Amino acid sequence: LQLDPDELHTADFVVVANRLPVDKETLPDGSIRWKRSPGGLVTALEPILRSQTGAWVGWSGVPDSNDNPVVDGLQLISVPLSASEINDYYEGFSNATLWPLYHDVLVKPEYHREWWNAYVEVNRRFAEAASAAASDGAMVWIQDYQLQLVPKMLRMLRPDLKIGFFLHIPFPPVELFMQLPWRTEIVEGLLGADLIGFHLPGGAQNFLYLARRLAGQATSKGTVGVRSKFGVVQVGFRHVRVGAFPISIDSGALDAESRSRKIRARAAEIRTELGNPSTIMLGVDRLDYTKGIDVRLQALSELLAEGRIDPSDTVMIQLATPSRERVDSYIQMRAGIEQLVGNINGTYGEVAHQVVQYLHRPVDRDELIAFFVAADVMLVTPLRDGMNLVAKEYVACRSDLGGALVLSEFTGAAAELRSAYQANPYDLDGVKDAIMAAVNQDDEEGRRRMRALRRQVLAHDVSRWAKSFLGVLGSTQETASSANRG
Ligand code: ADP
Ligand code: G6P
Repeated sequence: LQLDPDELHTADFVVVANRLPVDKETLPDGSIRWKRSPGGLVTALEPILRSQTGAWVGWSGVPDSNDNPVVDGLQLISVPLSASEINDYYEGFSNATLWPLYHDVLVKPEYHREWWNAYVEVNRRFAEAASAAASDGAMVWIQDYQLQLVPKMLRMLRPDLKIGFFLHIPFPPVELFMQLPWRTEIVEGLLGADLIGFHLPGGAQNFLYLARRLAGQATSKGTVGVRSKFGVVQVGFRHVRVGAFPISIDSGALDAESRSRKIRARAAEIRTELGNPSTIMLGVDRLDYTKGIDVRLQALSELLAEGRIDPSDTVMIQLATPSRERVDSYIQMRAGIEQLVGNINGTYGEVAHQVVQYLHRPVDRDELIAFFVAADVMLVTPLRDGMNLVAKEYVACRSDLGGALVLSEFTGAAAELRSAYQANPYDLDGVKDAIMAAVNQDDEEGRRRMRALRRQVLAHDVSRWAKSFLGVLGSTQETASSANRG
C-alpha cells in the first residue's frame, strides 16, 4: 500500500469494501478510465459517501494496481491484489466457498485450505489499509462477506476506532454454516466489530446463536427487531451489538430522474422499437445463479407452451451484467441460460420478433431507468437474495403507478414489499400464476399495489439505512448495556 505520508490517519469516516465503487480500465491508448463497478453494494453506498467526507478502501478490479485516485471528489485507496490472490481469495474463498454457502448451498461450496490462507492474508492487508487511513477515534465501516476477518484484525491494530460491519448477503442458518471448516474464526472475526448489521432479523438471530455456540460468548436471547431491539454479545469487557438494517436505494433521486421528459421519451421509444407489444416483461440482474433467471425463463416457456401468453404480443427483456466470469459455476449457469433463451426464441420467435431480448452487458443508468419505466411486469425471481435492490429501483421509477412487480419470497425485499405479486421460486406453477396475475391485473388493482409499494420504498431510502446503522454505531457503549438482554 502506498499512502502519501501526509494522508496517513486523516479520514474520520472510512468505508472498507472488497471493491472500490469504480473499476480501473486501461484504454487501448494507455490512458486510464474509472468505470462504475457492478452490484448492489456499490449502488447503495455510493450516495452515502458522497453526502459526507471520507475515504473508501477497496480493490480496483484488476491485478496489482495500487492507485489512490480521487474520483468525483471521493478519496479512493486501493488494496492491491495479485493474480493468484484474485484466484484464491476473490474467485475462490469469497465466491466459490462463502457465496454459495451463504446462499442456501445452491451450488456446492468448495473448501480449500489454500483459498482460506489467501482470505486471511488479504483480510490482513485490508485491515492494515483501513488502519493507515483512519484518524484517531474514526468510524470505520467494513462491508460484506469478503472481509469478515477485518473487524477483529483492525481492532487489534487500532483499539481507538469505532468499527461497524454490515453483511450484504443472507447470513445462513446454523445447519449450513457449520459446514465451514473455519466457522469459529469467521464468527470471532466478526465479533471484533462494535456493531454487526444484517438485512433481516433472522440473519441477526442466526449469528447470535452461533456466537453462543461457537465462540462461547454470552448473548442476549430476545428477538431482534428491524432497526430496533438489538442483540448483544458480551466479548470480554466489550458489548457487541447485533441488529437488522434492511438496505435500500436513493429512491428520491430515482423517482425524480424517472419523471424526466428525456427518460419518458426513451421509454416510449423502447416500446416502439419492440413493435408495441401489449406486454413487456423485464429482468435486470448480475448474471448469477442465485437470481433465478432460469426460473423466469422456464415459467415463460411453459406459459407460451400452454397458450396462456401470446408470443406475438409479448416481449421479455433480460438485462444481465457479466459477473465472476472465471468461476466454474458461473460459466455453467451462463451456458444454461443462453440455451433457454435460444430455445424460447427458436420455438416461438419470428424473424422480425424475438420473444426474449437478452443483453449480456451492463446498461447505463438513464437507459436502465427507461427500461424500468417501459416495463409492464418486472420479474425478480431469486432462489435466495440478501435484499435485491432491483425490485426497489423498479418501484421508485413508477411514479405513474403503472407496472407490476413479481417478487420471490426468498429475497430480503419480500419482507418489505408486501404488495408485490409474491411467489415461491421453487414452485413453478406458483411463479406462472403470479406472472399471469401481474399481466392481467386491472388498472385500479395495479395502482393500489404500486401506491403501497412506493410508500414503503420512498420512506425507507438508503440514507435512512445508513443513518440508522451509523447512529447505533456512534452511540456510546452505555446504550449497549441498556439494550435488550434476555
Ligand atoms: P446484487 O447486489 O446481487 O448484484 P442487487 O439487485 O441488490 O443485486 O443490486 C444490483 C445493482 O446492479 C442494482 O443497482 C442494479 O440496477 C444494477 N444492475 C444489475 N444489472 C444491471 C445491468 N444489466 N445494467 C446496469 N445495472 C445493472
Ligand atoms: C453483491 C455482493 C457485493 C459485490 C457485488 C458484485 O452485491 O454483496 O459484495 O460487490 O455483488 O459482485 P463482484 O464480485 O463483482 O464484486
